[in-house]
Order: sequence, then C-alpha cells, then structure tokens
Amino acid sequence: MTSRLNDRSFAKALEDEREHLETRCRTLLDALVGGPPVIQEAVRYMLLDSGKRLRPILCLWTHDALGGSNRDACLDVACALESLHTYSLVHDDLPCMDDDDLRRGKPSCHKKYGEAIAVLTGDALLTFCFDILASIRERWVVRESVIIETTRAIAKAAGTSGLIGGQVLDIMEEDIEHTKEMVETIHRQKTAALIAASMEVGAIVAGISNKDRETIHRAGVLAGRAFQIIDDVLDVQSDEKTLGKTPGKDVRDGKLTFPSIVGVDASKKEAFELIEKAKWELGAWGDLGPLVALLDFVVARSS
Ligand code: IPE
Ligand code: IPE
Ligand code: MG
Ligand code: MG
Ligand code: MG
Repeated sequence: MTSRLNDRSFAKALEDEREHLETRCRTLLDALVGGPPVIQEAVRYMLLDSGKRLRPILCLWTHDALGGSNRDACLDVACALESLHTYSLVHDDLPCMDDDDLRRGKPSCHKKYGEAIAVLTGDALLTFCFDILASIRERWVVRESVIIETTRAIAKAAGTSGLIGGQVLDIMEEDIEHTKEMVETIHRQKTAALIAASMEVGAIVAGISNKDRETIHRAGVLAGRAFQIIDDVLDVQSDEKTLGKTPGKDVRDGKLTFPSIVGVDASKKEAFELIEKAKWELGAWGDLGPLVALLDFVVARSS
C-alpha cells in the first residue's frame, strides 16, 4: 500500500486536522468545564496547544477512510480521546509513577501546579472525556447505539485490562520478568489498547459492521504496539528539545522496554514490521487516503 508520508499534502492535512481539534477542544472546554480557576487553567495547560494528536487523528481519518459522513460527531469523539490520553500523561508523570518533570516541551503538570492539583487535573480530563461523549447527542444527530458502543470501547481500552493494567505492570519493573513476552503485554495494554480503540471508534461512528470493526481493531493493536516500541527507542536515541520530555529516563529507572530486551535496531525493525502488518489488515478497503501515511508516521516520527 503506497504512503504519502513525504508528500507535503500529508503534512498540511496533519496540521489542518490539529487545528480543527484545537478549536473543537476549546469550544467543548468552554461549554463543559467550570469550577475553580486553578483547575480550569491546569486542564487547559495540559490539553491545549501541544501534543501530536495521534489518537484523535487516527479516529478521524479512520472514519473518513471508511466513508463515514458524521464528521461533527466524530470530532467530538476525537476530543474525548485526546482528553483521556492527556489524563494518562498527567498521571504517568507524577512522582509516584515515572516522576517526569517535562511533558510536551513544558514543565509537567505537577511541576507547574503541585501534585494534588495534578492528580485532580488528570481526574478532570478523564471525566471530561466521558462528559463529551455523554452530551454528544445534544449537539449532533447520531444514533444512541453508536454513542454507547463508542463509550464502551473507550472505557474498556482505558480500564484495568487496558491502559490502567499496563501502567500497573509498567511500574512493577522489579517484580516482573524482563522478557519479550512481558514487554509486549505491557505495550498492548498501556498503549495499544487506546490506539486500537481510537481507530475502532472512528469506524463505529462511520457505521461499520461488527466483522469489519474487528479488523480495524486488529490493525489498531499492531499500530499501537509499533507506536510504543518507537516511544521506547526515542527515549534512548532522541534529545530533550526534539522529544519535549526527558530522554534516557527508562534506562535510568530500570524500565522494561523493547530496546532493553532486543536492542535498538531490532526494536525499530519490529516496529516497521508491525506497521506493515497493520496496513495489510486494512488492505481490503483499497485507497485509505492519508490514513496510510499516518500509520507510517507512527514509526517514522522523531518525537
Ligand atoms: C506518549 O504519547 C505516551 C505514550 C503512550 C507513549 P504521545 O507520544 O502520543 O504523546 P503526545 O500526545 O504527542 O504528547
Ligand atoms: C506511558 O508510557 C503510557 C501511558 C501514558 C499510558 P511512557 O511512560 O513510556 O510514556 P512517556 O514516555 O512518559 O510519554
Ligand atoms: Mg510510564
Ligand atoms: Mg512516562
Ligand atoms: Mg516512554
């Protein structure tokens, strides 16, 4: 399947989509997030003006690639995904987790607002995700079953057999076996589950059949595994300015990562193979437009 990764139109499409998300997130924040100024500010500090926006754009471009015609509702779902993902970053950086001072090129939430507000900011972003989903039908015409299935898929991916479960295993580095099987399990849960759900919910909003939904999910898991392998590689190979977070931290903390088991070169090879498999899964749909280039970006990115 040919990709347009180096095409200037891809870079432009990515930029435009990020802007759509930014505008929509701002509108939804204004409508739904009230309360004390400090929490409103912290939520905006984390959610706005930064991040690659990979999960929401995967959702939108899967919707589009499958011929979906409910972009307005899908954009709200995409904002919900980004809010949930951002919560996971805020909590991941806390001193009791990875203890990271830098996130998205800025002081991480607890460095800027203190730990208690950072915990609450994560809670607020998680709650905001489900508020956006629960109120979608007040804004757009979309079937109730679509919203229920979307909400369920996101909740499942974020829950104890998905993101939270993976984070639990991730922080237990001294108590788990350092094997390839274990690192794969962690990657599947902490990262691939939400990336797969992002593509899946784009497909749900597009009105896809259950069988096709499973195929999209499989492709998403492969892409999500590739994404986390490259995250591990960038921690070894990249620098603070490019990454917007502290490099070299996984090694210092004795984390179980893909490069710690198989080395950097074999990790990259595996990530590229996983992306080829993800594209193969999607082969039946023919021309998927910029979604293919986005999948290539998952492994070719520098931050
Ligand atoms: C970082 O995700 C956390 C992981 C699951 C590896 P991203 O690399 O997508 O972070 P942002 O959203 O671009 O900041
Ligand atoms: C984090 O993995 C995964 C989630 C936030 C669920 P990492 O701990 O490797 O992410 P970074 O490198 O801090 O972004
Ligand atoms: Mg972590
Ligand atoms: Mg971390
Ligand atoms: Mg990392």
